[in-house]
Amino acid sequence: MTALPNSLAARDIEYYFHPVTNARRHEQVGPMIISKGKGVYVYDDAGKEYIEAMAGLWSVAVGFGEERLVQAATRQMSELPFYHSFSHKSHPTAIALAERMVKMSPGNMGKAHFVNSGSEANDTVVKMIWFYNNARGRPEKKKIISRIKAYHGITMMSASLTGLPNNHRDFDLPFPQIKHVSCPHHYRFAEADETEEEFATRLAKEFEDKILAEGPETVAAFIGEPVMGAGGVFIPPRTYWAKMQEVCHKYDILIVVDEVINGFGRTGNVWGSDTYGIKPDFMICSKQITSSYVPLASITFTNEIYNVIADNTAKIGTFAHGFTTAGHPLAMAVAMENLDIIEERNLMGRVNELSPHFLERLHSFKDHPLVGETRGVGLIGAIELVADKKTKAGFEKPGATGLKLAELGHEEGVIFRPIGDILAFCPPLIITDKQIDDIFDGFGRALDRLTV
Ligand SMILES: Cc1ncc(COP(=O)(O)O)c(C=O)c1O
Repeated sequence: MTALPNSLAARDIEYYFHPVTNARRHEQVGPMIISKGKGVYVYDDAGKEYIEAMAGLWSVAVGFGEERLVQAATRQMSELPFYHSFSHKSHPTAIALAERMVKMSPGNMGKAHFVNSGSEANDTVVKMIWFYNNARGRPEKKKIISRIKAYHGITMMSASLTGLPNNHRDFDLPFPQIKHVSCPHHYRFAEADETEEEFATRLAKEFEDKILAEGPETVAAFIGEPVMGAGGVFIPPRTYWAKMQEVCHKYDILIVVDEVINGFGRTGNVWGSDTYGIKPDFMICSKQITSSYVPLASITFTNEIYNVIADNTAKIGTFAHGFTTAGHPLAMAVAMENLDIIEERNLMGRVNELSPHFLERLHSFKDHPLVGETRGVGLIGAIELVADKKTKAGFEKPGATGLKLAELGHEEGVIFRPIGDILAFCPPLIITDKQIDDIFDGFGRALDRLTV
């Protein structure tokens, strides 16, 4: 790195401890400093343009620099910059967004609750489930079953729900109440000649066996992302969700659907739950709800659950959970405007128009000698690299090739995300066919330059 002593990069290294970063490597390579964004593009501090093929972190549905969101935020800041929702207080935008989220949500949702991040949302849901089962006189029914390679966040409980080793290792996690079953990734985990349906049947059986081994009276909920995102973009095998839900219903197990990445059109319907026929008891969403311009996550849940919880709050005197900034007016106002833009510009409907071209370009890499699998749905996809196409064997140093390819991508002006040796793509919903071409042309040039 050639950073001068007082450069932004040097100050970053000196003062800023980054999330989800190898700190010692960071000291060597320094930050990639993004100082501006417009549409699907971001610009580094030297003015170089990149097409953001990950929408930031699966986030920026309406693109960068959307002036209407700036105006909505400014209006709200002038009118009411902060108010809370504790102890019967409320404010107009929180009421409006709660109504909108309940009406938009799939299934039979009755109430919405707001927090500041996907992690807080999943943490809160576990507390609500525990509160609910205590209220129902089932104090032993507390375990939550998640999946290997799931990503549900990084607070103590949400990291426990996450099924990725690095989110547990040396953090003394997961908590003992959290159990994990297999990842539904057919390419990696199906047996030879097993069809998607057979694989799904086997996973549902494994799930049922797990419940029986733990004792159904101790299992409260199953949590899943319809399409698993940050673990590596795994599209569920056909019939998987129907079979998993059947098991949940058999043992009175709540279904928690984490729509943090899937929500707001990503898979071709408003919700991943719609795409895969899931009927959630709790649904979590975040990221695209404000295009991540400001922090926000929402939890919607059924009136059946609400009524049990509400009775218990009357008994105790309160629901003693909530963040100071929950339902923050700024977040509410930006979410309302962001959802207006998404609806007015039909950004969710556009996903189905763009998806065939996106998937065609994505799948065009499947015959490359270093590509094991290409997979996608709607406007989300991944390309998994392998050292040996035939045996599916990975590389000697897992993750190094993916990282190298992502860095070559930067040189080619495209930002995609390495997840180990899997490269993920999740562009802003405002992307055009031509920009999709630019993403995969840039990716192709980077792949051509990759030597392993
Ligand atoms: C499916 C899912 N759930 C939860 C989270 C955690 O959200 P946050 O980073 O806002 O805490 C993420 C973040 O990527 C996610 O992808």
